[in-house]
Amino acid sequence: MFVSESLGVNEKGHLVFGGHDTVDLSEKYGTPVYIMDEVLIRKNCRKFVNSMNENYDGNGRVIYASKAFSCKAMYKIINEENMGIDVVSGGEIYTAMQAGFPMEKAYFHGSNKSLSELEFAVKSGVGRIMVDNLFEMEKLIEISEKLDTVVNVIVRVKPGIEAETHSFIMTGQTDSKFGLDLDTGDAMKAIKMALSAEKIAFKGIHCHIGSQIFAVDSFEHAAKVMVGIMEDIKNETGYEVEELDLGGGFGIRYIEEHNPADFREYMEKVAVVIKEECAAKNLKTPFVIIEPGRSIVAEAGITLYTVGAIKTIPDCRTYVSVDGGMCDNPRYILYQSSYMAVIANKANEKADFCATIAGKCCESGDMIQEHTMIQKPESGDIMAVLSTGAYNYSMSSNYNRNPRPAVVMLNGDEERIVVKAETYEDLIRNDM
Ligand code: LLP
Repeated sequence: MFVSESLGVNEKGHLVFGGHDTVDLSEKYGTPVYIMDEVLIRKNCRKFVNSMNENYDGNGRVIYASKAFSCKAMYKIINEENMGIDVVSGGEIYTAMQAGFPMEKAYFHGSNKSLSELEFAVKSGVGRIMVDNLFEMEKLIEISEKLDTVVNVIVRVKPGIEAETHSFIMTGQTDSKFGLDLDTGDAMKAIKMALSAEKIAFKGIHCHIGSQIFAVDSFEHAAKVMVGIMEDIKNETGYEVEELDLGGGFGIRYIEEHNPADFREYMEKVAVVIKEECAAKNLKTPFVIIEPGRSIVAEAGITLYTVGAIKTIPDCRTYVSVDGGMCDNPRYILYQSSYMAVIANKANEKADFCATIAGKCCESGDMIQEHTMIQKPESGDIMAVLSTGAYNYSMSSNYNRNPRPAVVMLNGDEERIVVKAETYEDLIRNDM
């Protein structure tokens, strides 16, 4: 049942996470509550950073895609782990700055950054702006001149790769809202605009082929295509690309059947492709950037709920309701994502009960998982949903005016609240 190395069962038969009894945590902090394990977060960070050092002589940077889980405490951890960050909005930039993050290590992504966000990014000294489209390139040139500031840019291209994953989180293919197309000539046009603009420093190219990808060869393929694009750029403009950003997307374990490759394997294999392809094409090996998000935090998080109403519909299914749902985890209603759930106070019992875990929102599709095997549930039990560290808190909403739960960070024997639970007062804070 252990989809994450942070999980275990203690002598009381309770689920343990990061060394803490989850039933005790639920009593102390109430439910629903997100619990994160800092030890595992840091271990995951080090896997990527060490792998970059060992396989690519440290000639690169691992940047955490903070859309996966963003709060001040997280940016502090990432800074301490000597990594950069991927930010995608003024809000993420602001949060990172408030956490004291060195903004020269921030990379600003997004397919439709607003003009005020672009200005804010330039003024805050964001290290790289990842240009997604021609409109943005035009505006950025204007902003760089207006603010009389040199802006370092990386151009996002579509490598034309269809990675095997859910269509909503597939991004490298030609029919995608992200990035500039090579075939239409838009990508090269943007690069030429950057090269000829006085206050723009063109640094390199970027791609991100999608998310929750298990096949390392998809990444090897992307790396090969991107080095080919580096060659095209050199041939057409004479400029040799210095930085190659290969995005994120490494798959994680939500359920036992998932079998992701060790993250270290990624850099091991991709480094070989880049070095060989560059040597064959007579290009300098570029500084490489990778952008893991989910793989840093997903398995390092669980959500604890209290079981409420249980409804059995004969010859159909049993709905087991929890005190949260799509407002704290919208991933099932959006992507039909797989999740594993455990009755935390009965974790040593057999999971022989088939349940549909329903949320509390006024929405039929509000479920966490359908037809999943858990321990026999009773109202009042504590339910843990596993591998919720990525894209849960960050995608949560106040739908039905549900306050967002707290995020509690465990670190060995220590524990601290890193995001307070919202109150009803918070819900009306901006109401006039
Ligand atoms: N870099 C770029 C440019 C991205 O767009 C993303 C994710 C990442 C890196 C990080 O990807 P990761 O390593 O986390 O897979 N809400 C969806 C995932 C959306 C991913 C968006 N971009 C989900 O819950 O599955």
